[in-house]
Amino acid sequence: MTYLVTGGAGFIGANFVKYILNKYSDCKVVILDKLTYAGNLGTIKEELKDSRVSFYKGDICNQELVENIFMNHNIDTVVNFAAESHVDRSIEDPGIFLKTNIIGTQTLMDVAKFHWTNGKDDQGYPTFIAGKKFLQVSTDEVYGDLEKDIPDGVTLEATNDALKSVLNNREVMPKVFGTEFFTEETSLKPRSPYATSKTAADMLVRAYAETYHFPVNVTRCSNNYGAYHFPEKLISLIIKNILEGKKLPVYGDGKQVRDWLYVEDHCKGIDLVIEKGQLKEAYNIGGFNEELNINIVMQTIDIVRELVFDNKEVRSQYKDFVTVSYNDCSYDLITYVQDRLGHDARYAIDPTKTVKELGFYPETPFTEGIKKTIKWYLDNQWWVNEVASGDYQKYYNEMYGNR
Ligand SMILES: NC(=O)c1ccc[n+]([C@@H]2O[C@H](COP(=O)([O-])OP(=O)(O)OC[C@H]3O[C@@H](n4cnc5c(N)ncnc54)[C@H](O)[C@@H]3O)[C@@H](O)[C@H]2O)c1
Repeated sequence: MTYLVTGGAGFIGANFVKYILNKYSDCKVVILDKLTYAGNLGTIKEELKDSRVSFYKGDICNQELVENIFMNHNIDTVVNFAAESHVDRSIEDPGIFLKTNIIGTQTLMDVAKFHWTNGKDDQGYPTFIAGKKFLQVSTDEVYGDLEKDIPDGVTLEATNDALKSVLNNREVMPKVFGTEFFTEETSLKPRSPYATSKTAADMLVRAYAETYHFPVNVTRCSNNYGAYHFPEKLISLIIKNILEGKKLPVYGDGKQVRDWLYVEDHCKGIDLVIEKGQLKEAYNIGGFNEELNINIVMQTIDIVRELVFDNKEVRSQYKDFVTVSYNDCSYDLITYVQDRLGHDARYAIDPTKTVKELGFYPETPFTEGIKKTIKWYLDNQWWVNEVASGDYQKYYNEMYGNR
């Protein structure tokens, strides 16, 4: 199997490249990435040495380049991660989001359609070489937001068989902050320029499936966290700032709810959709890991204290870059900043369809995933330093400097 992974030098794309190279010894991986501020070759430096991997620096909107890739490689599966992905940036400058996220997706599909078509059926639809698939990595933000009608959260009770099967191996039942969840049937009501550009792409992909019978799947995942996450998103930003003893900017009252998905679980889900997903279908990936943003920040502080300060040996190992003192590593670092415009209140995925049809399970509970993530950041400061130079500092000052 030869994969074209776009955005493979970004957070989830790079984790996916690592996952499939590890899992399938006979696969080939072609990576196409523009290396924007969010893409970093250091993230995939080991993979780039692998003879199974080819790398192209370039834009998914560049039809000639994408053509060239399809001419040189027998691509079986396109996994489209490439995107402008940060909501705050989309509020500042929506244009590039529409271009990359919509036109880029169309360009990739047009080239793949051309190369994969092998005839026409008797109704005039194109037919495609067996085994080809275009997978669009979409987001739960296409659904808009949900009511947070249980403000303090309650423990979810598995009251019906479907829910029981989804939650079957949870040791601790998850908390939920509302009575409604996103399913694949929920209507699409994006609320930010980012989410709208992703929704347009999501709908375009499914339009190609209807109009041309183009072989597609769409996955819609919740908020990912884990290794190699650029420190502009909540969890990675908070970890970086705690270690440096810097203020922790929390939007509004910090009571927004997000549904957290450990990135490796996401990669497993995408792999399952490629392997077993029914063509044309969308699949939710994630679910039942809801938490208030402010609780995430407090838990992260607690775990950093535990990992860094409770063990003297470990402390000396990290002494060069953990500049925060024991006393300063506290909730006093939290500073509330002006809320994001149009900030969504709650996201919560119901993954029942993906669980039942494909056997997916978001197996990493948040408490375990967050520990692994913080440990990873502690052990990989070289990576943080590499990505957090230059443009990042400028961006950080623009976003949070005056709030
Ligand atoms: N991170 C999340 O929590 C999350 C949640 C839901 C959905 N998603 C979706 O998953 C995908 C990956 O997200 P991520 O967090 O890894 O994003 P990211 O911002 O970390 O990485 C995006 C990658 O795409 C590359 N890229 C950007 N524009 C490009 C272009 N025009 N041509 C080629 N490459 C380009 C960047 O260089 C970068 O390597 C995105 O499509 C995003 O919408 C992410």
